[in-house]
Amino acid sequence: MRNPRDFLKPLCVGAPDPVTEIPFPPSRMIHFFDAGNEKMRAKLPDIAAKADIVLGNLEDAVPVDRKEAARAGLVEVGKTIDLGSTQLWTRVNALDSPWVLEDLTTLVTEIGDKLDVIMVPKVEGAWDIHYMDRLLAQLESRAGIEKPILVHAILETAQGVTNVEEIASASPRMQGMSFGPADLAASRRMKTTRVGGGHPGYQTITDPTSADDLETGRVRSQQDLWHYSIGRMVDACTANGILPFYGPFGDIKDTVACEVQFRAAFLMGCVGTWSLHPVQIDIAKKVFSPDPDEVLFAKKVIEAIPDGRGVHMIDGKMQDDATWKQCKVMVDLAQMLAE
Ligand code: GLV
Ligand code: MG
Repeated sequence: MRNPRDFLKPLCVGAPDPVTEIPFPPSRMIHFFDAGNEKMRAKLPDIAAKADIVLGNLEDAVPVDRKEAARAGLVEVGKTIDLGSTQLWTRVNALDSPWVLEDLTTLVTEIGDKLDVIMVPKVEGAWDIHYMDRLLAQLESRAGIEKPILVHAILETAQGVTNVEEIASASPRMQGMSFGPADLAASRRMKTTRVGGGHPGYQTITDPTSADDLETGRVRSQQDLWHYSIGRMVDACTANGILPFYGPFGDIKDTVACEVQFRAAFLMGCVGTWSLHPVQIDIAKKVFSPDPDEVLFAKKVIEAIPDGRGVHMIDGKMQDDATWKQCKVMVDLAQMLAE
């Protein structure tokens, strides 16, 4: 596959050089806030002190008559609030909406030097990213922006999932992708009204001969509705050097199920998730930071096998070149988060 980072050139005279390496600061949660809400803006410095990324949302959940207020509020945030090392992102309106052109024009012109990443909803194919790429280059050039603004796609339509590899490789601007279970469910005509998480109806059952359940002789267990698409997203992102994220978990009160969904995504390779309420910031922080006991064990393996080669028994477990690399993933992440 052609790697977009291999043929870098500016897309517009005067635009900053395309991105050569995606920065990977701590990105365990993208905390959504309503920038049109004055009270939320006032709380933002406290939120930013806890969150890795804060995102001013302009798309779904912002009513039509509040779109302009949300955009203006985000400009105010960019101009007046010091977020320290916390990244500032936005989710603009969808590319087929009447608001997105003004979202991009206003935000890049007014606060383009403050925005790290623009999240684009309902991306369906490489063409959506190419459009963003050109337009951002023009706006950056016009505004004299020196650091290119990165692009993050939400994978939330059947067509987007079908084209996930070409989306991930569409531009050197691609920072990563999030999984959007609510829109994806609607797009696929899935029969659920939940936002992410499990569903009691999606089950598997053992053969009648199983003796585990004494009454029926069978065992039911719930399966993960999202496994297939998250797996495709993680592979497409990783193959192209960009970052995969889980997305929203809508049942704010069900912190247990939220943690389970986040952990499944973490184990599958996602680096972070969305948080829709401050309580989810803490859950994400816990889940997307590696378990200290596992890190200790991984360090032990790395120290015991300095060249990462051969086969060794450590605490009764077989270790070889591949498990050494698994341990390295864990230790590197722990180290990056500790810095
Ligand atoms: C997020 O945008 C979703 O649709 O789940
Ligand atoms: Mg959506």
